[in-house]
Amino acid sequence: GDNAAGRKLTGRFLHITDIHPDPFYKLYSSTDKDHACHRSKGPAGVYGAESTDCDSPVSLVNETFKWIKENLKNEVDFVIWTGDSARHDNDELIPRTRNQIVAQNELLVEKFFEVWGKPDNYEDDDPTNDFTIPIVPTLGNNDVLPHNIFLEGPNTWTRKYLDIWRQFVPEEQRHQFQRGGWYYVEVIPNKLAVISLNTLYFYTKNAAVDGCAPKSEPGYEHMDWLRIQLDIFRQRGMKVMLMGHVPPARTESKISWDEACWQKYTLWMEQYRDIIVGSFYGHMNIDHFIVQDFKDVKKSTRNGAIKAMAVEEDDFTVDSDRSYLIELRDLWLEIIGLSDADDVSKSNSKKNKKYLDHIGGKYGERYAVSHVNPSIVPNYFPTIRVYQYNITGVQDTVFPHPGRPVEAQGNSAPQLPLTLDDEQTLDEYLFALEKAQETVSTTGAKADKKKGKAGKKHKFHLPTPPSTTTPPGPAYSAQMFSLLGYTQYYANLTHINNDFRLFDIGRGAFGQWMERKDAVDERVEIEKDGKKPKSKPKKFKFEVEYETRGGKTYKMDDLLVRSYITLAERIGERKDNSFSEKDVDFLKDVNDVVNEGVDTEKKKKKHKKKGKKGKINKVWFEFVRRAFVGSMDPQEIEE
Ligand SMILES: *[C@@H]1O[C@H](CO)[C@@H](O)[C@H](O)[C@H]1NC(C)=O
Ligand SMILES: *[C@@H]1O[C@H](CO)[C@@H](O)[C@H](O)[C@H]1NC(C)=O
Ligand SMILES: *[C@@H]1O[C@H](CO)[C@@H](O)[C@H](O)[C@H]1NC(C)=O
Repeated sequence: GDNAAGRKLTGRFLHITDIHPDPFYKLYSSTDKDHACHRSKGPAGVYGAESTDCDSPVSLVNETFKWIKENLKNEVDFVIWTGDSARHDNDELIPRTRNQIVAQNELLVEKFFEVWGKPDNYEDDDPTNDFTIPIVPTLGNNDVLPHNIFLEGPNTWTRKYLDIWRQFVPEEQRHQFQRGGWYYVEVIPNKLAVISLNTLYFYTKNAAVDGCAPKSEPGYEHMDWLRIQLDIFRQRGMKVMLMGHVPPARTESKISWDEACWQKYTLWMEQYRDIIVGSFYGHMNIDHFIVQDFKDVKKSTRNGAIKAMAVEEDDFTVDSDRSYLIELRDLWLEIIGLSDADDVSKSNSKKNKKYLDHIGGKYGERYAVSHVNPSIVPNYFPTIRVYQYNITGVQDTVFPHPGRPVEAQGNSAPQLPLTLDDEQTLDEYLFALEKAQETVSTTGAKADKKKGKAGKKHKFHLPTPPSTTTPPGPAYSAQMFSLLGYTQYYANLTHINNDFRLFDIGRGAFGQWMERKDAVDERVEIEKDGKKPKSKPKKFKFEVEYETRGGKTYKMDDLLVRSYITLAERIGERKDNSFSEKDVDFLKDVNDVVNEGVDTEKKKKKHKKKGKKGKINKVWFEFVRRAFVGSMDPQEIEE
């Protein structure tokens, strides 16, 4: 609902990510690694080359935003936009330049403006009032040059993005944005904030920084800033969502964040679980979710001391690509205790108690969940996601359009200095905040008094846990702003490009993803045939791929942590065998591939012990199918 006076909430928000616009995309060019949809002859379609490593043609970007304008403009309250808004560096003949990255990002801001812009306000002196709803962007690892590398700020990129995103970064946060590319937006003033994390400072592939342990690192500062913001939001009685580009993936083969950053983040997620609604990421291009287990926070971390921990870069081999989902599932099996599924069955009250103790009580407060949305760039099919969240209690309130901030509502919380003034460095600002906080926080100074092992561990300020009387937060029990569900939309490019199939010959079992190194040789063969489309493309549209609520397989009533625990359990189970023969064949193949990918001794033993290998689980099958946005054809597996 939208009018001149303000807006009413709809109870929905949009998550869009990894758009990767590529102005060099050439229709009917080769999708081969050496040509990257830029030249030569091949099957690159009108709206993109689905299931390839090619980036998004501008036509796909335009059609995506046109569809959003026609279908979602008045249906969402804000937008979470998690980065990678420029093309990949995937073509030696057309290396990326700084100007390209800037222009591609500006193009996307323009597209958002075409949907939610207020042209009447464009010329006035407040850039932050140019949109009807808040749009919250974040930096992706491909939004900088060279990709992945992001120095401590202020730097030329933080300054540049401060300009590109001048309409989105609230005025009072421009200084801290320049400092490190992090900021927040009160998407519902005085009630709900979205915190945009700069995950490049946590990213294992950013060789310019060194994680979150040493005080000198921007990652340290970022975590400290985050902790302080969370304290302030708690004191203001607000709730928050966290968003970033690179998700905190942490499996055997895939570690995306520096371990010290992960340790702090997970501790923060635990200690601010009374106010965190959820967290939202992109980057991976596959549809999945990640569970953080608070038991993985080390004792020393809980005592306010942490080592700088070297981690392997997340260099993906094809095999580890394939096993990532399987590792996720095995992790769930492990942390949710499903290997003991029978022991913790909820059938009698004693066992039920054991089960609840295991998962952190009836709200599952041992875990946090991170949502990972797949991409627009058609590594599989282009997708967007619309979340539903609970607005009971605020559904009739008229909120102002974005613009210069409204006055904070008076409440009994101590007034903290929320802004950085011109003369202050961020350190001074953080220091002032600390001082102000110590009057309200009892645990804040504890870490300083403990003696860390000299030279080995870096001390940090501990977050304040929720008070013992605070009820469970919005991620744990149904309340205002709790996530209710989401609708996953996808554009079937194979269909839209008029069944101009790229892969008559087949491709790897799980396609390719992430680093997109593995060109598929067979494609060269296709090009020799010089295939051409049969006729013009069909009308571009997104359609519903699945919904978490009321869906047939996931059957989630809401997106509370407890519901994810149940889903993870169901994905982990190997029992259900009740579906069609065609599915059974496909699942057998998936299962073979799956079991191939996790041949560690331990897991082999587990499977053996359970004696359930080979049985097929429909929920797991659906999870894998959805991970690839339904672009994986059952036949292809067999081939
Ligand atoms: C995409 O939209 C922009 C306007 O936002 C327009 O200038 C451009 O010509 C369009 N390009 C294509 C390929 O449709
Ligand atoms: C929404 O929140 C209210 C409390 O604010 C609660 O009573 C209600 O059950 C929630 N709705 C759902 C569908 O969870
Ligand atoms: C996409 O479209 C193709 C061609 O029309 C069809 O064969 C395929 O089943 C569709 N895939 C999905 C996931 O809708």
